[in-house]
Amino acid sequence: MTTTDRAWWRDAVVYQVYVRSFADSDGDGIGDLAGLSERLDHLTRLGVDGLWLNPCYPSPGADHGYDVADYMDIDARYGGLPAYDALLAEAHRRGLRVLMDLVPNHCSVEHAWFVAALEAQPGSPERERFIFRTGREDGAAPPNNWRSVFGGPAWTRVEGTDQWYLHSFDPCQPDFNWRNPEVAEYFDKVLRFWFDRGVDGIRIDVAHMLVKHADLPDWMFPPDGESDYNGHAQNQPEVHEVFRRWRALADAYGRDLTLVGEIWVPTVTDLAAYLRPDELPQAFYFDLLMCPWDAGAFQASVSRGIAEIATTGATVTWTLANHDVHRAVTRFGLRAAEPPHSADPVGNIARARGDVDVARGLRRARAALLLLLALPGSAYLYQGEELGLPEVLDLPDDARQDPIWFRSGGTEHGRDGCRVPLPWRAGGPSFGFGPGPRSWLPQPAWYAEHAVEDQWRTEHSTLRLYADALASRKALADDLADRDLRWLDVPGRPDVLAYQRGELICVTIFGEQPFSPPTTWGRILLASAPPHAGQLAGESAAWLKPAGS
Ligand code: GLC
Ligand code: MG
Repeated sequence: MTTTDRAWWRDAVVYQVYVRSFADSDGDGIGDLAGLSERLDHLTRLGVDGLWLNPCYPSPGADHGYDVADYMDIDARYGGLPAYDALLAEAHRRGLRVLMDLVPNHCSVEHAWFVAALEAQPGSPERERFIFRTGREDGAAPPNNWRSVFGGPAWTRVEGTDQWYLHSFDPCQPDFNWRNPEVAEYFDKVLRFWFDRGVDGIRIDVAHMLVKHADLPDWMFPPDGESDYNGHAQNQPEVHEVFRRWRALADAYGRDLTLVGEIWVPTVTDLAAYLRPDELPQAFYFDLLMCPWDAGAFQASVSRGIAEIATTGATVTWTLANHDVHRAVTRFGLRAAEPPHSADPVGNIARARGDVDVARGLRRARAALLLLLALPGSAYLYQGEELGLPEVLDLPDDARQDPIWFRSGGTEHGRDGCRVPLPWRAGGPSFGFGPGPRSWLPQPAWYAEHAVEDQWRTEHSTLRLYADALASRKALADDLADRDLRWLDVPGRPDVLAYQRGELICVTIFGEQPFSPPTTWGRILLASAPPHAGQLAGESAAWLKPAGS
């Protein structure tokens, strides 16, 4: 058995910290690393194994840190490298792993390389680090028809010239040219910088997008067939070489570092290709996050994920939320979605808007947590989901900051609503987020109902459910290790999904009717809603175990 077979990340629960919105120590309204360090008690009490920090490098903040100006430093707003080292030491002292977020597809227009590229001539080595091309129509039109994920063209013209540069996202985020070996060498240095400093792994931003088709051909939209929208801008065969190189680099440290890819590709087979034994240890399984609230759909998605990813020897990395999608409570509570509005197919599903039944969404999100945490593999939670926070759908327009909002000309609201700073207390100017008068995004009055302090004190709160589920998962770890999942028959109730691992049974009731589990399933260890006389509530989930075991 290699160390990798038992690596910590194979079944770890990692908590995603959107640093700007977690806790503010200095009162400037922006979360920071000292704020996070002060609040680590919350996370140890919650019972997670590690943290993934969203990017906190120096950045002008056009995409809140996903536009990196310097990959080997920490932004002064977050406390600089000293605050980072202090956080890392304190997290490690508590046994928490720390993952950085690396953004290798693009940097910021303020990165020294891009500044130099703009000053240099077409065809120069400085420009070769990015993707510059001559525009069509004598330079007046973009070099091809690619669209930015955030809306609008994927090219911006260098003022007063016939040259354009490619940006898959915002114009402030120029794409690197990964066909240039200098880029790969630079990122080796970046990885070593953070691994040498002691991080336990990295999350790789849009890992599937690094390499583009060498000819940058137009996307075709055949009237009667599948369009190859994005097919040339992502998932190119050469991208796998990058990750083989990174895996070798990481493994050489001999301490089970992880690399977890953010990979949006059309099929799970495509995803599994990134998880081959010499490539990425982990990649998010987003399929479940896009799944409607339906027993059959969940069963199919879970089965598909396990079957495809098992072929690689990796485990599935489950998740139901992150900083790019609407919160699960809101997605599960949506009564009817408004018509599609996004340039990004993911946006149309995972950020659908409309009228929301929050109470129902919360019941379902609590159930989904138990379904998720008993599955084999690792799980990533997004800050605030442990508080049962719904999406803030009604931020005032003038408060919105997501580049998606601006690039879409205000037709797509974007991702600010899941990034509103956390409520720690029911009162105070920013609900305990920080000592300042306000937070960088306004918090709605109803945030008071979700405050951390109150939820720790309240039995059956969503926070207590999360902590109980994580504690039970830990207690069951030895029983569950290496146990495959087996679906159980539930005659006459197609809305009830049950599976068994070892002796543990996890049952989820998708419909509204209560459900009486057969006595052979044993006693209820944990339920997302209080059971009545042995009956589980509709839209709830439970873990059961035979008596005496
Ligand atoms: C990823 C990030 C997202 C960011 C984008 C561009 O999808 O998760 O937040 O805007 O990449 O870096
Ligand atoms: Mg601050």
